[in-house]
Order: sequence, then structure tokens, then C-alpha cells
Amino acid sequence: MSTFQIKNLEEYFQVYRKSVETPELFWAEVAEEHFLWRKRWDKVLSWDFSKPEVKWFEGAKLNITENCLDRHLLNRGDKTAILFEPNDPNEPAQHISYRELYERVNKFANVLKAQGIGKGDRVCIYLPMIPELAVSVLACARIGAIHSVVFAGFSSTALATRINDSDCKMVITSDGSYRGGKVIDLKKIVDDALEECSTVETVLVAKRIQAEVPMKEGRDKWLQPLLDEASSECAAEVMDAEDPLFILYTSGSTGRPKGMVHTTAGYMVYTAYTFKNVFQYEEDDIYWCTADIGWITGHSYIVYGPLANGATTLMFEGVPSYPDWGRFWQVVEKHKVTQFYTAPTAIRALARQGLEYVEKYDLSSLKILGTVGEPINDEAWHWYNNHIGKGRCPIVDTWWQTETGGILISPIPFSTPTKPTFATLPLPGIQPVLMDTDGKEVQGRSVSGRLAIKFPWPSMARTIWGDHERYRETYFSAFPGKYFTGDGALRDAEGYYRITGRVDDVIIVSGHNLGTAPIEAAINEHPVVAESAIVGFPHEIKGNALYGYVILKPAGEALDPDALRKEINALIAGQIGPIAKLDKIQFVSGLPKTRSGKIMRRILRKIANNDFENLGDISTLLNPEVVEEIIKNRL
Ligand code: WT7
Repeated sequence: MSTFQIKNLEEYFQVYRKSVETPELFWAEVAEEHFLWRKRWDKVLSWDFSKPEVKWFEGAKLNITENCLDRHLLNRGDKTAILFEPNDPNEPAQHISYRELYERVNKFANVLKAQGIGKGDRVCIYLPMIPELAVSVLACARIGAIHSVVFAGFSSTALATRINDSDCKMVITSDGSYRGGKVIDLKKIVDDALEECSTVETVLVAKRIQAEVPMKEGRDKWLQPLLDEASSECAAEVMDAEDPLFILYTSGSTGRPKGMVHTTAGYMVYTAYTFKNVFQYEEDDIYWCTADIGWITGHSYIVYGPLANGATTLMFEGVPSYPDWGRFWQVVEKHKVTQFYTAPTAIRALARQGLEYVEKYDLSSLKILGTVGEPINDEAWHWYNNHIGKGRCPIVDTWWQTETGGILISPIPFSTPTKPTFATLPLPGIQPVLMDTDGKEVQGRSVSGRLAIKFPWPSMARTIWGDHERYRETYFSAFPGKYFTGDGALRDAEGYYRITGRVDDVIIVSGHNLGTAPIEAAINEHPVVAESAIVGFPHEIKGNALYGYVILKPAGEALDPDALRKEINALIAGQIGPIAKLDKIQFVSGLPKTRSGKIMRRILRKIANNDFENLGDISTLLNPEVVEEIIKNRL
């Protein structure tokens, strides 16, 4: 039995037991079997969650890019590492081999050095989903610079905040980007942001849309001529296991974004191990994760995890709706995609479009489907299973967070029997616990509580950049000695976990604690409701009352709104109780969402509270335009 790949359920239980009983031995074996080390570790793990301090593979020396690139040259030099599918279906795809990627990363790394970037410097990457994005990430890692990728849909304000928080010395961007039918002037956004940033010395500009853009003398440089002159050999910087690899910001529900810091060896071992097992990657597979590299999903499961396994990873520049809603399925057919990994919000949008977009394409190459980002509802799960997987592809519902670095709870396909809406079982090395509100562990089966993790795993974030105390306070203070996830979960009779949603969205109505998630689930059962979100607003007698924002399916738009409101409340009363009925129900065409598909309740809450003058920066939303409509029609 290989330590690295689990092949059946019995093996999973064996490996899991070993990972809990002798975690250091287990992770040492995984690390030994599969990676290239410049020097072996002295100590597998030391940890103290009260500080908190966690160190994995202390004393080891390595470079993650030697594991993602150099060691594949011998046997996989001509294999496609990155399969780039452009926004425009008529533009040819690019097959970038491991050898070519190695050379491009080295050239880029040499450019970074020539521009004065060295080990430990922070480099902000603000690029669309073009090959240069993956190349620049790896180039930073090659020389030990800390990359901070900012999703290229964020506004100049959001970008400036992130550049300043970690004092970036350089920004890497492009002359613009394509997103569906739109062209976006990225360089202008960078120029605006840099008005507020004093630490940036150099801006490297890649060409994507061949636009004329202003170049600031002494600061801005076209990338290509520098690459043309650079050598394709660049010795990898030898890094300590715990040297920071990257910073990635996650927007807290309030306040400043948190710069989560991930380090080198543990992150590499865990993302590679989980990629192999959760996607059961085999040598000729074509793996596609539709996320953007600007999110942790892209870092761990487009770039590092797949490349550390010598996989072919598809990078898609476009959107699911362009040129039409068949685009994803057309790409699956075209490249014979074997593993497809996307978000529930995308699945729901695709499911609303009608089956003709799916049925036009041959999806028989698919073996495994994945989902991530929020709890997947029953209806979306079945649509995905029936119409995309044709009932023969296991769905891996992968639960994790920016902070966890890698997937923590997920089925292992063909081993773990799946169950709709359940993330199922913890991966090896992960020790989840459910906690009650008094801080006691909830034992046994068929129970629910707050999800915490009681033992370290290799890819956990080590700190928040520049604010270790905030890190401790946010994740390690709710339940001393444990990492608190902020999620609620239940554990069923078989020990399977179902993530029920954030526990911070609790509203107290007449002294009753009401979670928004179960109420929304009740509303969504109405046959003409597509999606909903509820928030609290002040009420003289109850303290808080509930305000619901509801998106109707086309079939609901012709119906009498007041009759619908009554039916929705009857459903809630039936499922949760009359206490959870909504005082106000507003029908809307969309809900404000973050780029990762999460509803921005903060904005909805402010509107329900008639406090919409100061909504803060809404430019980072996926759909800022719906905010105006919601304000205009508020109840
Ligand atoms: C939060 C983390 C990790 C990549 C994308 C999101 C929710 C994530 C699931 C899932 C139910 C999920 C949780 C978590 N979440 N995956 N499979 N089932 N909920 O990363 O932006 O850091 O968000 O997303 O609430 O805490 P993120």
C-alpha cells in the first residue's frame, strides 16, 4: 500500500487511524515518499495553539518550484503542464509543457532579480487568468519572494489596501483583460491604486489586449522585452520549511482584509497529497478547476497541488456565460476534461439555463466532479450529479478555507460513498470536533455544533501578516487549544459531516437565536424561488425582525407578490416555526455577491436598516449594479 494514494474505503480508515494515532510518522512518510528535499527535516512537528505557533518539517530545506517543475523534466518534459483556454473560443488553446513552463518561470525569476526583487520581498500580482499569472507566482517562489495575488476583479481601493498592508515592492499586471464580452482596463486600476501606495518601485506590464496604456517613466516596464533578454536558467533559492511562500487576503466580514500567511514545506506536502487523493489524479488526466488563481482554490488546486503531482491543469480565462451558457461544457468536450471542480453558485446559475446547453456536448470524458465555496443545496447537487456526471461521476463536496490552505473534509472518490450535501469525512491528518456554545466538545453521532479542528495540519496558515494577535483572537480564542472555523456543522449517524453555514450569521428574534441558513433553506423550497438571503433589522418589540430578499424563477414573476409572501411565510412557519417568519419580503433580480459567490449580508443588512448612505467599497462585488435596484425598491 502506498502511503500517498488511498484506493478504497478500508485503506482510508487504516490511513486515517494512523494519521491520528501517529501523525508525525504519517506525515514524515508522505513527505519522504513524494518530494524533493535539499535537506531533510530535523523535527516533523512542533505546535502550541495557545500562542499560536505551528511548525512543520522544521530544519528542512527545499524549493517548491523544484518539486513543481525541475523534477518532472526527466519523465514529463513534453507533457502539458498548463493547458490555457482563452476567453474567446476562436483563439487557439495553448499547451505549455513542463519544459516550457520551467524555462518561462526561470526567465521571469531572472527578470524579478534584475529588477531588485529578492528573498522575502513582497510582490503583488494583479493579472487576469493568463499564463503569466501562474508563471509569475512560480517565479516569485523560485527566488523566495512572497507573492500576494489580488484577484483582478478587485477595485483600485481594494488593491491599494492590499499592496499597503504588506508593503509590496512590485506590482505585476497587464495592459488589460478580457472577461466574456467585456474588456477591462487593468492598468488604469493599478495606476489609480498606486496613487495611494508609496512602497511600489516597479510595475511590470504584460500585454494581453494590445492596448495603448500610459507608462510611468522609471516605474512601469513592459514585461516581454525583459523576458526576451533573460536567461532560462535560474538556480532555485534554498528555502527553510517555514519561510513564507505567499500572502493571500481574505475579506473578513468586518474591517480590514486579513493577509493569511502560508509557509513552504507544509503547504506543499498537504496540497500535493490532497490533490492526488481528492481528485484521484492519474497520469493522462486533464484536470480543470474553474476558480481564479486570485483565490486560495486557484493557488492550491490550479497551481501548486496539480503541478507538484506532474498533472495537466487547465487554466480558463473566460466566464461560464460567454459566448453562451454552454461554454463550460464545450471546454470539457474540447479538452476531454476528466476532473471538473467548480462552485455551487456556478452550478445553480448553469442549472437555470436549461438542458439544451448541456446536451449539445459530449461529457463522457468526465470521471470526477467537485464543488467548493459554500454548502451545496440538494437541488443543485442532484442537477450536477444527473446532468453533468450522468449519475456515474462521484461528486467531491470539498470543505475548506483560505486559512486552511487545503481541503480538510471531502469524500475520496471511489472510496467514500457520497451523500448529497455532505462533505462526508475528514481527510487523513484532520481531527474535526463539534463544540457547543458553552465551549464543550459535543460527542457522538447525530449531533451538531460549531466546527473546530483540534490538531494541526501541515497547510494551516501560520499568522495574519503584520497582526499575529488578530490571528490568535480570530481563530484560537473561541475554543482554547482548538482552531475555530467559524462554520456550523452536523455529524450524522455514520459520522459524516455536513457544513451548515457560517455561525456568525445568527439573528436574535424575540430572544430566539435564528440562523439565517436554515430559514433560507426553507424559503428556497418554494417551487418558484431561485435564491434568498435574510438579515435582521431593528424591531420595537422583538428586538430584531427578519427581512428577506428573494430571487424568483421566471415562473414566479407573473404571480401575485402578496400571495407569494404568504406562501413563503407558511413554509418557514412549517419548517422552523412561526417565530422565524419574515416581516418584510422584497423580490429582487439578484443578490450582492463577492467574487467567490458569497452573499454580502453586510450590504443587505445596511439596506434593511435604512442605512445605505455609507455602504463602503462595493466595487469588489461580482454584481455591484444590483445594489442600486435593491435600495430603490426597499420596503
Ligand atoms: C468558507 C471559506 C476554500 C475555497 C473557497 C472558499 C465555506 C467552503 C464549503 C463546502 C460548505 C463551504 C465555509 C468556509 N465553504 N467550502 N464544501 N461546503 N461550505 O474559501 O473564501 O476562505 O471561504 O467557505 O463557510 O468557512 P473562503
